[in-house]
Amino acid sequence: MKFGLFPSLAILLLLLVYSVTGCMTNVEELSGITQQDVSYSKAIQPILNQYCVSCHGTQAGVALNDYPSLMASVGNKWNNQIVVPGSATASGLYDVLTSSPQKQIPQMPIGGPYLTGDEIEAIKAWINEGANDN
Ligand code: HEC
Repeated sequence: MKFGLFPSLAILLLLLVYSVTGCMTNVEELSGITQQDVSYSKAIQPILNQYCVSCHGTQAGVALNDYPSLMASVGNKWNNQIVVPGSATASGLYDVLTSSPQKQIPQMPIGGPYLTGDEIEAIKAWINEGANDN
């Protein structure tokens, strides 16, 4: 018993390490998928509904409840349209999702939970593809 326990613990530990690193690899592979032809109605608005509209509903400034409101939204600190079609890096909508947004804006949604890597990639791809109402 005294000597029999150790090998099985070691095997268990190896299996655990293997499954954890296996999972991490899967997550990385998933996030590495290049997203294409991202649909606003099917992919982007549902993300905004889930994470953002509780605070950014229909009020002035940043309203994320539908496509026309989003495209008309101008940030206080961003001081520009938050969606610049064709350039995610120039878009406040994308910038605030990153871990260290510019212009001293806190990462959105404030306090989290934050978007998954794939959700952020979808928004980035949609903006870079022209931010279409598709
Ligand atoms: C819990 C409430 C809350 C949620 C949820 C939330 N926000 Fe915000 N958001 C704020 C507040 C408060 C500010 C103003 C922050 C500041 O200026 O310091 C803000 C500011 C912003 C700004 C503009 C900053 C500026 O002034 O230029 C953008 C863009 C933004 N949010 C996008 C989002 C997006 C996209 C989501 C969803 C992924 C989201 N927010 C979720 C509360 C929230």
